[in-house]
Amino acid sequence: MEIVIVPAERIGDLAAGAVVALLARKPDAVLGLATGSSPLSTYAALAERHRRGEVSFARARGFLLDEYVGLAAGHPERYREVVRRELEDSVDFAADAVQGPDGLATDVPAACADYEARIAAEGGVDLQLLGIGTDGHIGFNEPGSSLASRTRIKTLTPQTRADNARFFASPDEVPHHVLTQGLGTIREARHLVLVATGAAKAEAVHAMAEGPVSAFCPASVLQLHPHATVLVDEAAAGRL
Ligand code: GLP
Repeated sequence: MEIVIVPAERIGDLAAGAVVALLARKPDAVLGLATGSSPLSTYAALAERHRRGEVSFARARGFLLDEYVGLAAGHPERYREVVRRELEDSVDFAADAVQGPDGLATDVPAACADYEARIAAEGGVDLQLLGIGTDGHIGFNEPGSSLASRTRIKTLTPQTRADNARFFASPDEVPHHVLTQGLGTIREARHLVLVATGAAKAEAVHAMAEGPVSAFCPASVLQLHPHATVLVDEAAAGRL
């Protein structure tokens, strides 16, 4: 794991640089797209570089990392909508090039298996963007998630629901259930790029990088990955 400590305002540009370099050498690359506030500066930097003509997504494909269960199509906090708003609307992905797990599926196991099959059919993820939860989760793989897990339904912990309540009108509106790529799925991406800023992430970053590889800190699977880049600011690196 390569850990890069840089000022917070540089993180988006650095993560975007990895995506731009990938698309320059492989225009039809498969991107793994995260949500939460952490990747927003990366998406803003990608939009700016696209505006300047430095990168095209015309042949790229994208797979969302995770999705809430039960949020109606068009709900502004549905991750499919967030990625559309924060990235797709500003760049030139082809129609239907970005896919996410179906949080409205009636047959959830079938929808999860289908999502895995769709990722595999595109040749797997080349670069997976990641944030980290304050409890060390990646995607929505909460502590206790199998290190070999695949896309499946998970129940959010009270802490994660409280952390994500700021995106909703009231804490009660945060869904209890989510679909998420598993830790086994995420580990198959060829390059992992995790970004974290702020002191609230310091404990999780410490556990990820310096603690044991354990389901208690799902992000610790990055220690097993041959190509993982972690971009953190001084505050998030405060316990390293
Ligand atoms: C959510 C997302 C994760 C994200 C985490 C941290 O739980 N499912 O992918 O990493 O939030 O969010 P933030 O970046 O807003 O701190």
